[in-house]
Amino acid sequence: MQPIFQIRIQYIKQVHEIKENYFVKKLVIPLWNMRAVIHYAVIVIVLFSEAITEDVLNNRRFPDDFLFGVATASYQVEGAWNEDGKGESIWDRVCHTVPSPITNNDTGDIACDSYHKYKEDVALLADLGVDFYRFSIAWTRILPTGFNNNINQAGLNYYKNLTKELRANGIEPVVTMYHWDLPQSLQDLGGWQNELIVDSYVDYARILFSELGDSVKYWLTFNEAKQVCDGGYGVAQKAPLIESPGIGEYLCAHNLLKAHAGAWRLYDEEFRKDQEGKVGIAIDTSWYEPFSYNSTADIEAAETKQQFSYGWYANPIVHGDYPWVMQAKIAVRSEQEGFGKSRLPEFTQEEIKYIKGTYDFLGLNTYSTSLINATDDPDPSKGWAQDAEVIEWQPDEWEGSSSSWLKVVPWGMRKILRWLKETYNNPRILITENGYSDNGTLADDKRISYYQRYMSSLRDAMELDGVDVMGYCAWSMMDNFEWLAGYSEKFGLYHVDFNSPNRERTPKKSAIWYKRVVETKCVVDDCVDAKL
Ligand code: NOJ
Repeated sequence: MQPIFQIRIQYIKQVHEIKENYFVKKLVIPLWNMRAVIHYAVIVIVLFSEAITEDVLNNRRFPDDFLFGVATASYQVEGAWNEDGKGESIWDRVCHTVPSPITNNDTGDIACDSYHKYKEDVALLADLGVDFYRFSIAWTRILPTGFNNNINQAGLNYYKNLTKELRANGIEPVVTMYHWDLPQSLQDLGGWQNELIVDSYVDYARILFSELGDSVKYWLTFNEAKQVCDGGYGVAQKAPLIESPGIGEYLCAHNLLKAHAGAWRLYDEEFRKDQEGKVGIAIDTSWYEPFSYNSTADIEAAETKQQFSYGWYANPIVHGDYPWVMQAKIAVRSEQEGFGKSRLPEFTQEEIKYIKGTYDFLGLNTYSTSLINATDDPDPSKGWAQDAEVIEWQPDEWEGSSSSWLKVVPWGMRKILRWLKETYNNPRILITENGYSDNGTLADDKRISYYQRYMSSLRDAMELDGVDVMGYCAWSMMDNFEWLAGYSEKFGLYHVDFNSPNRERTPKKSAIWYKRVVETKCVVDDCVDAKL
């Protein structure tokens, strides 16, 4: 066993023994628990002093400079999977696998055909009146081989035309540089598990900044890194469908965080001065609610789960390293499993310095809430979810949607925002995704109700808790390819007719409702002006 690892384990064991040792209890607890204790105390006080309720809708207007947008992602809407020199991505590969792992054997080969219909899409966005459109760039359209030896001008032109069209209509492009469609050629070399990808990603980022940076002022390096890594390399729920729980997802995250930092630093050092843009990252999480506030163990377990979730990526980016609780738990479990070192890779001091502070704003993708119970009998199997050693669940009676994981819990929005404010020194936050799935009906009153209650809760967080939120982005502009669920779960404000070669778009009731929200900057009819 490596000496450093031994010391670390010893230290962790000491901390675990604090209950027995008065001096350690006095001296060591503050290292980690002081922050947590204050944090929990704030939560408890707030909970008792003001009931967080969804019954009363917030009727205050959002601030004048608050931005409203809608989002999509390349593989989910573009189609044209092999046109104009585009290379194969890991999602092309997964969707073309026989037998198909996708519901109904669906593919993104044509999807919403936005590659050919982008002008029509922009016209709809203009009609909706949104301030920004969040879309992603397919790495394989720009670099078909994954490497910068072969830049595909036709692919670049597509995004240049799209951003030009958006700007001509007064719509701000918000660009996700990576929304899951890795070049298959890079996956053949190990994908996010091979450190080689860090340089490849930064090379790709350089091309995007230099070719599109004049018209793009908001960049997101990654969408939902947790899904990329745990889904893609841990539990095989996303391409490339690799199952290596407890090891693969951590390797992936380690490289992804370095790639993120590399891209941010590149922008900061070489492009920011001239282009004056901002670079952030979209991190996904649910709100994790302690099952009981009478149980310190449940409160701690919920905090642990959040640190494993949003904290897995945000803690290194804001504070410099993985959350302490992740380091501790994974190290102890790794030792028990007989590993010579922790399954969670370690950053060097140099890397910590390099990654720390690499954000201009934090993106939040959030849809739902889960309850968390502490457990004395944690699942011993290896894996990111198991390593947190908590029980996560959602009561059956909570309002559902067409997605099994998506329960409608509007008050979770306010709580996660407040947690972000407290945990990351009041960062500037962009809600990069929030939305509701159904079967595609045009009379989508339940979607309207979801948006209205979630946005009301967001408005409460800004007004009552002083959370610094710069904008809100609805997922999604239109029905699209929902990954392993194919076209069976619909999130769009616009309906898309996937049975028609023209892929006609039709506004749902929610599109008309959202248009009014954007216009009035308010989620109800009788709006009141507000300062914050
Ligand atoms: C997360 C992802 O970013 C997006 O691609 C997906 O369609 C939605 N949330 C809904 O699951």
